[in-house]
Amino acid sequence: MKEFMIAPSILAADFANLGKETESVIEAGADMIHFDVMDNQFVPNLSIGPMVCKSLRQYGINAPIDVHLMVQPVDSLIRMFAEAGATYITFHPEASANVEKSLRLIRDLGCKNGLVLNPDTSITSIDSALEKIDMLVLMSVYPGFGGQSFIDSTYEKIKNVRAHIDSKNIDIRLEVDGGITELNVADVASSGADTFVAGSAIFSKADYKIIIDEFRKKLNNVSI
Ligand code: DX5
Ligand code: ZN
Repeated sequence: MKEFMIAPSILAADFANLGKETESVIEAGADMIHFDVMDNQFVPNLSIGPMVCKSLRQYGINAPIDVHLMVQPVDSLIRMFAEAGATYITFHPEASANVEKSLRLIRDLGCKNGLVLNPDTSITSIDSALEKIDMLVLMSVYPGFGGQSFIDSTYEKIKNVRAHIDSKNIDIRLEVDGGITELNVADVASSGADTFVAGSAIFSKADYKIIIDEFRKKLNNVSI
């Protein structure tokens, strides 16, 4: 089993102080920064782009940056984010005209790739790509906004996807994104996920170390 990774989503951070906020959450013990990119077309919201990713790198953020593209099309932004210092670049398969080509492009540019499945998208739709990805992301809310509630049917999906990945003996990260808090992170982990995105649950707190320690404590009690 892989090490658990906590990936705060800076969508919930104070954008007027983004460098400091990102630095603080890493200093508080986060493993990776989750970077939500929305284009007001693929999802009904607009967020941040490659220039902001590059600024964070220039500011001195060295932690892995996990870019979640909620845009269509994806290839031009994949190039820009690779240039801007992304570590992971993940996208929704329905947003690419040629999923395998986009996945290859990400790796060719030196980044790790991944696919993101909406709550109502089944794994069978991307089964043939599973061997060509570094991370699979299961949305536990409908993408577009932070602060939504975790959709409970995701637990079953995580279990099924974990069993499927293990049966194929594939070594990839399984990330869950949306509505994760200190109250449900242990259940998400024991269902089979190893990477946890949390935006509002972390950035709404005054002390990031206390809340990340709380996540870690809950995760320490889970063994898979
Ligand atoms: C939703 C985004 C999520 C979101 C997570 O479209 O992909 O990453 O920001 O935020 P919380 O943890 O607040 O649900
Ligand atoms: Zn996300």
